[in-house]
Amino acid sequence: MKKLICVLLALCLCVSLFAACGESESDALTVEAVKEKGTLLIATSPDFPPFEELTSEGTVEGIEIDILNLICDELGVELVIEQMDFDSVLPGVQAGKYDVGVSGISVTEKRMKNTLFTDAYCLAAQAIVVTADSPIASKADLDGKTVSVQTGTTAESFCMEEGYEVSSFAANADAQSALITGKVDAWVIDDLTAAEMVAAYNEENPGALVILSEAMTTEPYAFAFQLGNDDLVDEINTILNKLVADGTVKSIFDKFNAPYTSPIA
Ligand code: ARG
Repeated sequence: MKKLICVLLALCLCVSLFAACGESESDALTVEAVKEKGTLLIATSPDFPPFEELTSEGTVEGIEIDILNLICDELGVELVIEQMDFDSVLPGVQAGKYDVGVSGISVTEKRMKNTLFTDAYCLAAQAIVVTADSPIASKADLDGKTVSVQTGTTAESFCMEEGYEVSSFAANADAQSALITGKVDAWVIDDLTAAEMVAAYNEENPGALVILSEAMTTEPYAFAFQLGNDDLVDEINTILNKLVADGTVKSIFDKFNAPYTSPIA
C-alpha cells in the first residue's frame, strides 16, 4: 500500500512538473494568442506630443496611436490603451502586464538586454531647451549646469553620463515647468516633443522658450515587447515595415505636422 502511495505521489509530481514546463513555454504571447483574445493592450505615457497625448476628452491620440491602430486593423484585434508614467512603461511590458510599450521609446543596447523591440520606424534626437535670456547657446555650455529631464528616459541617462546636475520628473510637463520657473538652467527632451511643447507654451508667451539648434544623440524609436514574444514581433515587423516602405508612416507624421526622419538610410 505504502509503495503504491509513493508511486502515485511520484507520478503526480512528474505530471505537475511537466505542466509547469509546458506553461512557461507557452507564456510567450503569440500572434494566435493575440487574435484569440481579440485585443492588443498597450502601455503608454501620453505626455509626449506628437507621438501620444491626451485630448480634452481624456482619450489618447498621436502618431504612434495611429500606427498601432493600423497594426491592430491588420491583426483584426482591438487596441486597448493603458496610461501611466513613462518610467512604468518598460517595467510593465517586461513583466508581461502589457502586450506592447508605445511611448516614443528609443532603442538602446541596455534596454535590448531585457526588452524585445520591433524594427525602428523613425529617428529622433535629444534637444536642449532654454529660456530666451539664457547664456547657454550650445551643448558645451551645459557643463556644470542643472538640467531637467523626464524620469527613466534616454535624456536622463545621457545627461547623467555627461555629468550635468540632473533633476528628474515623472511627468514631462513638470520637467518643462522646472525650466520656466527657473529651477534649472536647461531642459533636455526628444526633439519633436520639444518642438510641440515649446510651440504650445510660446503661443501664450511669445519667444519665451528657445530650442537650441544643436541636436544631441540619434535615437531610433520602436515598440517594446516582453522578451520571448518573437512570433508576435515578427508579424508586427512585417506590418510595420510595410507601413514605413509605402509611405503610410510618413503621411501620419504629415497629419501631425511633424518632420519625418526615416530609419532606412
Ligand atoms: N525617447 C525617450 C526614451 O525612450 C523618451 C520617451 C518619453 N516618452 C514619453 N511618452 N514620455 O527614453
